[in-house]
Amino acid sequence: MTEQLREHVARQLERSRARSTQLTDAVDEHDLVRQHSKLMSPLVWDLAHIGNQEELWLVRDVGGREPVRQDIDEYYDAFKFSRSKRPELPLLGPKETRQYVGDVRGKVFDVLEKVPLEGRRLVENAFAFGMIVQHEQQHDETMLATHQLRVGDPVLQAPPPPAGNAVLTTEVLVPAGSFEMGTSTEPWALDNERPAHPVHVKAFHIDTAPVTNAEYAEFIAAGGYDREEFWSAEGWMHRLHSKLRAPRFWQREGSGWARTVFGVTEALVPNEPVVHVCFFEAEAYAKWAGKRLPTEAEWEKAARHDPATGRSRRYPWGDEDPTPQHANLGQRHLRPAPVGAYPAGVSPLGVHQLIGDVWEWTASDFHGYPGFEVFPYPEYSKVFFGSDYKVLRGGSFGTDEAAVRSTFRNWDYPIRRQIFAGFRCARDAF
Ligand SMILES: [Fe+2]
Repeated sequence: MTEQLREHVARQLERSRARSTQLTDAVDEHDLVRQHSKLMSPLVWDLAHIGNQEELWLVRDVGGREPVRQDIDEYYDAFKFSRSKRPELPLLGPKETRQYVGDVRGKVFDVLEKVPLEGRRLVENAFAFGMIVQHEQQHDETMLATHQLRVGDPVLQAPPPPAGNAVLTTEVLVPAGSFEMGTSTEPWALDNERPAHPVHVKAFHIDTAPVTNAEYAEFIAAGGYDREEFWSAEGWMHRLHSKLRAPRFWQREGSGWARTVFGVTEALVPNEPVVHVCFFEAEAYAKWAGKRLPTEAEWEKAARHDPATGRSRRYPWGDEDPTPQHANLGQRHLRPAPVGAYPAGVSPLGVHQLIGDVWEWTASDFHGYPGFEVFPYPEYSKVFFGSDYKVLRGGSFGTDEAAVRSTFRNWDYPIRRQIFAGFRCARDAF
């Protein structure tokens, strides 16, 4: 059992490193060290930060080994310097960074071979290794967002996602009742997903699929960006201040729209979920459509609740890990898949594409669940609890399967658009 777990960890570590290497080898040294947007770190910072977190947790803490490079800790501490300040720090160069992350990884494989995976909560079920795998995959998604912001010739390639299919209903009714939200058993679930607890949810309707580009274009054509009545007070202020007119990366082309995807400008694909909208835009669209955003509990119930058994599943399709037939994850494709592309991933109630494609904005602020306990450190999620952040669910085409579950919670500021975020709507059932 332990041997199987160690092999599983090793495979996951290798998968995440292959992705980090692909994302950083795809560009030249100049593009590695420069800042492509004030919102993002230089790619070389993300890579060294991945190595530094791995060193702190797995080499020094779990392994009890000597530091590899204690002198650089502060430059790669995400809480010490904001993203906009990072380019001015005495960061490791590309060659040094690659050497550093490789040295750390070598020690980690040695620790993985020797450390007992018991006796401490941090190592039970190889949790600390799982946390570091997820951390690297999360930064890989961040680096993918940096690639989308980068200006220049395209450097990333991937096959197109599967074709869409007609989705027969526009909405699904989720009946009233209690369901189990969160988890106490998923071994690599992070502190904010715990513990499992019952939540009563009133009956509601939820969109069968995420809102598409064509639907979003109708909102724009209906004057959605000029009609204050659809926006919250805060949302309208932001809409005016930031001069929002359309999702990020959209531009007018004749009477329609084009958008730029990883350096390629193309006509908008009508039945693809809209991406790169902020929370305020999602909220305004929903109001225009006579609906609202789902709460986090509603989203999770739609994704996990199995009315036949009354239990909550790990994923909409069941308990088995995602396969390429279930969901558009892991940067296998460089875009969300059209609506109806994943019939095998549908939830028991008939809701499509909850996992993968686009992160989905919810109406909920980010808070700890009843009985929340910090583990293993408050900076993972506790310091973000409060009304500043909105919760996003489900992962995007750029999220790895190791870094998303139906219980997984992401959070961001309601103005953010560089992330791969879209949404679906809900409404009360009367
Ligand atoms: Fe980080």
